[in-house]
This record gives sequence, structure tokens and C-alpha cells, in this order.
Amino acid sequence: MKQEFKIVICGGGSTYTPGIVKDLLQEKALRIKELWLYDIDKERQDKVALIVREVIKSICPTLAFHVSTVPGEALLDADFIMAQMRVGKLEMRVRDEKIALKHGCIGQETCGAGGMAYGMRTIYPMVELIDLCEKYATKDYWIVNYSNPAAIVAKATQKLRPHARILNICDMPVEIEARMAEILGVSIEDLETDYFGLNHYGWFTKVRCKGEDVTEQLKNHVSEHGYLSKASYDDALVRDPDWLHTFQNAGKIMRLFPDYLPNTYWQYYLLGDDILSDSDIENTRGLQVIQNREKKVLKAAWQLEQGHEINLEQFYVGIHGKFIVSVVKALAYDTRSRQLVIVPNQGIIKNLPEDAMVEVPAYLTSRGPEPIRIGSIPSFYKGLMEQQNACEELLVEAAIEGSYSKALQAFTMNRTIPSANIAKEILDEMIEANKEYWPELK
Ligand code: NAD
Ligand code: G6P
Ligand code: MN
Repeated sequence: MKQEFKIVICGGGSTYTPGIVKDLLQEKALRIKELWLYDIDKERQDKVALIVREVIKSICPTLAFHVSTVPGEALLDADFIMAQMRVGKLEMRVRDEKIALKHGCIGQETCGAGGMAYGMRTIYPMVELIDLCEKYATKDYWIVNYSNPAAIVAKATQKLRPHARILNICDMPVEIEARMAEILGVSIEDLETDYFGLNHYGWFTKVRCKGEDVTEQLKNHVSEHGYLSKASYDDALVRDPDWLHTFQNAGKIMRLFPDYLPNTYWQYYLLGDDILSDSDIENTRGLQVIQNREKKVLKAAWQLEQGHEINLEQFYVGIHGKFIVSVVKALAYDTRSRQLVIVPNQGIIKNLPEDAMVEVPAYLTSRGPEPIRIGSIPSFYKGLMEQQNACEELLVEAAIEGSYSKALQAFTMNRTIPSANIAKEILDEMIEANKEYWPELK
């Protein structure tokens, strides 16, 4: 088995890159031959690379580090490609949010109209990345993909490039596990969870702490306090008011549907009216991210350009970085660690379609994920997931066939859009706003 790897971060200009590099270098068990950043936006990536160079200097100054916008160079003989592209960047995230909100619907990055618009933008750039990896990377490359909307990327790439070595992941379930560990006052490594769902739409059915079932204890806590405890307030994500509110909202979902512990993203599906009344078109989440996470990165790059020193502590990305690094480590060294990842259903959830892409626990081997079976799920959960799965399926088919009518069906099917009239209005406006990015729909 290979021991040393060429790792490429695709979407090198991402706000997460410095933090992810920090986690990569701190994981001493992962031996890196070369680290590359690859992006299509040279100017942005070069800025982020300035910070990354400082991170490298502080942890592993001898590392071979390269930055490129040329796929044949960056991806050549790559072993692991950590993908985190945001097609259309934060500017388009904000446009999605505003268009949806203007029509009285939830404006969100991965759910509802915003998620569908972002999906339409991302399908073909991700297919292109796969084709580039097939051409240039090592034959047993792995793309470990964070690029959102991960659910739609997973579905589309499974349909268009079924043999591609891509594993789609999301940090939300592990982020929730971190909150659970804080509530219980234990280490996240002590927890083992059972979980089923689509990406962002899933439920924890059981939580064990060092083998002991702590599900009821957690449910009681979450009903009362959401995913929050005193210890949570030390976490950078929880200190963000928007996320604080999200972790609180989980309590309401838990009280309404006490069977399982919810993924926080159900708030957009189940508490749409609350979310809408909390939304402000002049202060969308995308705008907040531009003002905070993106500004922090651009400011640090500017300070370095001016020859100033920067504080590297600010680039800690918490669970987000640790999770993708642990997935890469498992695939690299066949650690068989148990992780929640997105895989083709193929009977895992017995009463959901075979070709749904589901998020479930899997043991990660060097050959890929070996998921555990879930069995049948109750009608309420099945119905919610079938509707979302049908919506995502129609959206992907619309992109592949260039079909306006399927896109309209997808928008109408989505639970956050109340009527076909509104679906059409939003879709038509999205088509106009996304001319540069979407496949043509006829
Ligand atoms: P960002 O806008 O700061 O960075 C994204 C980078 O991607 C930009 O530098 C952009 O130029 C680049 N890019 C765009 N199209 C590209 C292409 N075709 N090839 C290569 N690079 C391309 O975004 P961010 O806020 O840092 O987020 C990065 C990504 O991570 C987003 O897709 C976001 O949704 C995703 N994300 C996913 C999870 C998850 O749970 N799956 C969690 C957090 C973030
Ligand atoms: C979580 C989700 C991601 C999503 C991110 C948005 O991490 O799992 O899929 O991209 O939240 O966070 P932001 O801070 O950009 O709103
Ligand atoms: Mn996610």
C-alpha cells in the first residue's frame, strides 16, 4: 500500500483552505508528498495561498507546496483531491437567497430554491473535475467532495460518471455529534451514532457513548435546550449567532417529532414559517459570510501582502477540517473508521429508491465506503425523503436533458415553494440570473 500522497485542494481559494491545511498538517499519521492548491480564480487563490504558506511555515516548513490554475499540472498524479468549489462564489449565493426571499420563499444555500440554483451551477463543473482526474490523477485517485449542494452533486455524478472515485461528505452530522459530546461532557471519539437520511435531511436514531445507549438522555436534553450546553459556547461555530439559533431550533423539531434526533437542516423543511419570519433580505446568510469569514481571509492576505504578521489562530475550522482529513486518512491507510458519508442507496434504506443517494454510517476502507444496512424507515420520514429525493432527481434530469419542464417540476416539488405559480416565477428569475452558469433549459 502506498504510504505518501499527493494531495490537491480544489477550490484552493476557499475561505476554508487555511484551516483545512492546518488540520492536514497536524494529522501526523497522514504523510504528504506534495500539497497543491487548484482553483480557476488565480487572483483569489494566490491571496489564500499567502496565508497557507504561513500555516505551512508554522507547522511543516519542509513540505513541498504548489499553487496552480492549470489542471494538467495540479492534478497530475494526484492521489487525493479535496474538493470545495463554490461555483458562482458567494456573490451568487446571495443572489439565490434574495431571489427566493423576494418571492416569499426560504433563501438558503443548499435547501429550497437556492440549493437547486446552486446545484444547477455545480453539476457540470464537478463532472469536469472528475474527467480531469480520470485524465491526470493516479488511477486510484479519490475525490473527497465537500462542494455543495453535496446531495445534488452526489446524485448527478452518480448518474453521469457512475465509476468515478468520488466520495461526497458533509460536516453537519459530525458537527452535531460534537454538540452531543459537549452535552454529555465526553470526547466526540467516545460516541458512535446510527443515522439515516439524505444529505442535510437525516436523523440520528441511536447514540452510544463508549457502548452505552445515551439516546434518551440526549433527546431529553435536546427537547429542552436544542443542541446546546454550557460547553458549546466555547465553539467558534456556536458563537456565530446564526448557528446558535440553528442549534436552538433543533429543540423545537425534537419536541414536535420525538422519535429521532434531527439534523439541523430540517429547520428549513419543517419550520419554514419560523425561518422566513427570521429572514432579512438585507442581511442574508451569504452576506453575513462575506462580512465575516470571507473578510477575515481577505484581510489576512492583505496584511501579508503589506508585510505585516497575522494571527494564524483565527483559521481554525474545527470539525470541518478534522472530518475531511479523517476521511482522507481512512481511504489512504484503510483505517476502516466509521463515518457518516453519502453513498448510493442500493437497498441500504429498504423502502427508499435504489438510486437515492443516502447519508448513512459506513466503514471507510481503501476501496471506499462499506455502508451499514438500515432497513425500512417509518412513513413520515420516508415521505419527507421521497419528496426531497424526487425534487433532486428532477433537477438533475433537468440539467442533463436541458429540460425546462423538469426544472419546473423540481421547483414545484420542493417543499419550501408553496405553488407552481411561485415555482415558475422563481425559476424564470433564476434562469436569468444564472445565464453564465446553468446549462440551457428548453
Ligand atoms: P468560497 O467562495 O470562499 O471558495 C470557493 C472557491 O471555489 C473559490 O476560490 C472559487 O474560485 C472556486 N471555484 C469555483 N468554481 C471552481 C471550479 N470549477 N474549479 C475549481 N475551483 C472553483 O467558498 P467557501 O464558503 O469557502 O465554501 C467552499 C465550498 O465548501 C462550498 O461549496 C460550500 O458550500 C462547501 N461547504 C460544504 C460543506 C459540507 O458540509 N459539504 C461544509 C462547508 C462548506
Ligand atoms: C454546514 C453544512 C454545509 C454548509 C455550511 C454553511 O457546515 O454542512 O453544507 O455549506 O454549513 O455554513 P455557512 O457558515 O457558510 O452558512
Ligand atoms: Mn453539509
